[in-house]
Amino acid sequence: MSRPQKQIRFCLNLQATGRHDAAWKALPPTADWLAGIDYYVEIARLAERARFDAIFIADRLGVLDEPSHRRPWRGADPVVLLAALARETGHIGLVATNPALQGDPFTRARAISTLDHVSKGRAAWNIVTSQEDVTRRALGITERLDDETRYRRAEEFVAAVDALWGSLPESAVVADASVDTYIDPARTRAVRIEGEFHRTEGVLPLTGGHRGQRPVLFQAGSSRRSMEFGARWADALFTSQRVPELARSFSAEVKRLAAANGRRPDDLLVLPGLFVILGATEAAARERRRDLDEQLAVEPLLAALEAVLEFDVSRLDLDAELPYAELEGRTASPAGTARRDQFIADARSRKATVRSLLFNNLSGQQRMIVGTPEQVADDIEHWVDTGSAGWFTINIDVQPTGLRDFTTGVVAELQDRGRFRREYAHDTFRENLGLSAHPLAAERTTTGQGR
Ligand SMILES: Cc1cc2nc3c(=O)[nH]c(=O)nc-3n(C[C@H](O)[C@H](O)[C@H](O)COP(=O)(O)O)c2cc1C
Repeated sequence: MSRPQKQIRFCLNLQATGRHDAAWKALPPTADWLAGIDYYVEIARLAERARFDAIFIADRLGVLDEPSHRRPWRGADPVVLLAALARETGHIGLVATNPALQGDPFTRARAISTLDHVSKGRAAWNIVTSQEDVTRRALGITERLDDETRYRRAEEFVAAVDALWGSLPESAVVADASVDTYIDPARTRAVRIEGEFHRTEGVLPLTGGHRGQRPVLFQAGSSRRSMEFGARWADALFTSQRVPELARSFSAEVKRLAAANGRRPDDLLVLPGLFVILGATEAAARERRRDLDEQLAVEPLLAALEAVLEFDVSRLDLDAELPYAELEGRTASPAGTARRDQFIADARSRKATVRSLLFNNLSGQQRMIVGTPEQVADDIEHWVDTGSAGWFTINIDVQPTGLRDFTTGVVAELQDRGRFRREYAHDTFRENLGLSAHPLAAERTTTGQGR
């Protein structure tokens, strides 16, 4: 008997105007992209109708910087925006990017669990560990942490959030008017954390998650230390993977690390990003891309290429391939290595010219695919069937029209092939993802240490 084919799943990267940096130039001008709720409601409903697993809001906690003068970036707070979308949708997961380096665990625990209750079990926290200048300037932070300290601090932060989530079990809410007791303090699990970076003490004033389950945790990072951190805490990892072999080795390694932490490898999902540009024919898709690419200024693209390669690009011949021998003789910074390796391996496999690399999604870094819905469906199936990915974070060129095309094209095609669901099976995000139950407050110590 043949094994059932693995189902394909999508998470939508909900961006202002779309993934392509010139997307906004193809749309009627409006200030709504910075915060307009109706625009985001329309996209969220479309994604839910297409049976996406989740909407994901990437975010930078920080002040406006120069690239944002050239294209709109959504500026609204992800948790607040997703709380509004929770009331406009019924099944789709809601993934809010929030840092584990800045802020305090109590505020984070309260906000994410509130989102989980508002959405009835559909919240996820995407834990990020960046320390960009825009964040430090906005928050008045002068120090810059080395990588080891950064992740030690993030571990302590997440462990504290987790402990706070477990501090008020549902069973402690006895609601017994006859004895004048709403919450039985004997059944709470007060935390007392005096860590290297954070202190917090007491009981969270709401239960940590809907029906006693922990909100889903996502994580995004690429360094070795980040993989260890994600494999310990996260239910799902966002990752940039442009080359199947590298995607497979990334996935195998994080699942091995998860198993070393006593976890079921299937409880750690890995989502490579995918940037799709569609057309009714391949030529039409290429033309759609060219029309968008032609609206980008070249100078910022050269600067972006230089940042990815960590290499002076001013002397490069735009119509030649990259100087691979020279590039491979150098090492990149720890934070940039994985991104650079992916980029170079992809460029080399496609014999890409420097000029074409300028238009290779430098700002997003997701793998690009340009073609018909059938070609995109073939590519996605191939990645899944060769074990290079289980599901994908989909980036749409121009929103919302591109998402409509993706739904009626790629999703419909995969449904016809029996590879994509037509209905949600459950109500909560954790259940729809097929993850094991994760009860809060079960077998926890009060020190907030680990899972
Ligand atoms: C696919 C991916 C998505 C990310 N999304 C965000 C984001 O939305 N906001 C953010 O502040 N950082 C984001 N990051 C940055 C990471 O959280 C992390 O700070 C960065 O990768 C550097 O850490 P590392 O060198 O340990 O990987 C993302 C990273 C990756 C790989």
